[in-house]
Amino acid sequence: MSQESPSSSELTTHNQRHDIQQRYQQRRSRSIALIERMLRSYLRPYLWLLGISILANVIIAATTGALPWFIQQAIDKVFTEQDQQMLVLIPAGVVAISIMRGLSTYGSNVIMSFVGQRSTSNLQRDLFARLVRGDLAYVGSQHTGAYISIFMNDATRLRDTVSGIIISLVRHLLTIVALIIFMFTVNWQLALIYTIIVVPMGISSMRKLGKVTRTASRQGLEETGGLSTLIAETLGGLRIVKAYGQEEQQIERAGTVIDRVLEFTMTALRARAAASPAIEALAGIAIGAIIYFGGYQAIQGNLSAGEFMGFVTALLAVYQPLRSVANMQTILQEGVSAGARVFAILDQKDDILDKPEASQLAVTDGVMKFDNVTFQYATRAAPALHDVSIEVPAGQTVALVGASGSGKSTLLNLALRFFDTDGGHIEIDGQNIRDVTLLSLRNASALVTQDPFLFDDTVANNIAYGQEAPSQSAIEEAAKQAAAHDFIMDMPDGYETRVGESGARLSGGQKQRVAIARAMLKNAPILLLDEATSALDTASEQQVQTALSSLMKGRTSLVIAHRLSTIMHADNIYVLDQGRVCESGTHAELLAQNGVYADLHKKQFANGDG
Ligand SMILES: Nc1ncnc2c1ncn2[C@@H]1O[C@H](COP(=O)(O)OP(=O)(O)OP(=O)(O)O)[C@@H](O)[C@H]1O
Ligand SMILES: [Mg+2]
Repeated sequence: MSQESPSSSELTTHNQRHDIQQRYQQRRSRSIALIERMLRSYLRPYLWLLGISILANVIIAATTGALPWFIQQAIDKVFTEQDQQMLVLIPAGVVAISIMRGLSTYGSNVIMSFVGQRSTSNLQRDLFARLVRGDLAYVGSQHTGAYISIFMNDATRLRDTVSGIIISLVRHLLTIVALIIFMFTVNWQLALIYTIIVVPMGISSMRKLGKVTRTASRQGLEETGGLSTLIAETLGGLRIVKAYGQEEQQIERAGTVIDRVLEFTMTALRARAAASPAIEALAGIAIGAIIYFGGYQAIQGNLSAGEFMGFVTALLAVYQPLRSVANMQTILQEGVSAGARVFAILDQKDDILDKPEASQLAVTDGVMKFDNVTFQYATRAAPALHDVSIEVPAGQTVALVGASGSGKSTLLNLALRFFDTDGGHIEIDGQNIRDVTLLSLRNASALVTQDPFLFDDTVANNIAYGQEAPSQSAIEEAAKQAAAHDFIMDMPDGYETRVGESGARLSGGQKQRVAIARAMLKNAPILLLDEATSALDTASEQQVQTALSSLMKGRTSLVIAHRLSTIMHADNIYVLDQGRVCESGTHAELLAQNGVYADLHKKQFANGDG
């Protein structure tokens, strides 16, 4: 036992050390990978500017390094030797290098800010494009707020990291090198004492702090994402929050998240703040040591007053860049955690893409066919659709009916390739929709969704969405056919009235009619319509119905029907039950079958307007 324990504990410490070393390597390679990626993708167009900035920073480092030399000369030549010529030359030199230093600092800062801002805006542009182009399955699985936070917080943090790192690495590190070289030329023994005290202690304390910052900063940014989601959700559902009397609970929930953000931010800030005093204490120790050893050497006659003063000036000048370099590790770690989130979005691969040999969809008659379609949402255990076969003949209206959750909306999602089928296929005029370009597929059909979505813009622009500069008369014609013209004219600014965020300033029925007018104006050969389930009063119901009938006329229409009148006018009806087609036929045929449809009809349309 007693013989075994030391060896096993040795082994553990060895393993631990190995582990720590490995983690350190990983972290370092991730930091390097991040910088490399930023350089490759976002900084590349500005490399020449970075080159100029680096040059400016070399000048800054050189001029900072020259200052202690002037001090040394001033004391030895002017004060001790009383050299008249030096009395003029030294101050002139100091002024000259100070001006050079100021100009270089200005230039380098302006360039770095410009490069930082430009690369962030390019990054944000890419992020946004990634979101808009991304598969619904992926984008839908993320929280809105988390996206916003990555967009605003992580992207800018990444910028600060990149510019911070470049400045630290070039300007500060070079300044330190220049000053230390000066120290060695003045007196190598003193310089050696200084480097032995400061460098190793500084490095080891900074490593520890860097780790703390990285974790805390990652957690802080994640919580910030949660906060954004909470704010977006609360504002979106404010009526529900108030209706259920949940204001206090909502405020408290936000308070908890805000507290957590504060906690993580403070941890990171404390670690960062600790970096400066650590360096300050070290500087104090160093200065004490230098006064002692320097004074000793002066007494021995090995160090002039000027050399001593020059040395101390260098010591004081090295302090600020040293502090910045010490902070570099923590800033870098924050950037790595922000970069991980940003690039996770940028690297997301899409499944729904144009095939390389994709052709344009050619709509001749507009026949739409679902052939044994099976589909399962990634997050669900059971398929939403099994072996569904539906045919929509040219120019006809086919209605889909079925209980809530039976898979009706899913079928429309597949028809537009928002998702791809897992089995079977969908054809339009004999062309598999997977073999044609997404753009041509989506151009061929107009979609009206279950809950119509309007943009925070004017009524006219909402109707014209997706059309290139349609004429006002075309917009009004579409609105008239959608039975929307009259209510639009009644609004204060007519077609120029803004509808508010997601159309909040319109009623449900009005929003639907604007959405129908939009589809009307698109004038696509195929219509995909998800009727709203929400009950409308008889007058608006009548208006929406009129709008729909004129929209469906002459188009191949696949309609999820909740209104009896739509169903009655359909050429054929398919009944879905738990993702399977269980019956099909006309209204009269299905009623006669006395099956699922007859049942549904009895329940849903008991007091309908038949
Ligand atoms: N994005 C999604 N992720 C996971 N499951 C989903 C998603 N959308 C729908 N589902 C599930 O798929 C099934 C079919 O939903 P679908 O929206 O097609 O029903 P529906 O027939 O349109 O119902 P309703 O009449 O209520 O609109 C449901 O069980 C639903 O919970
Ligand atoms: Mg639905």
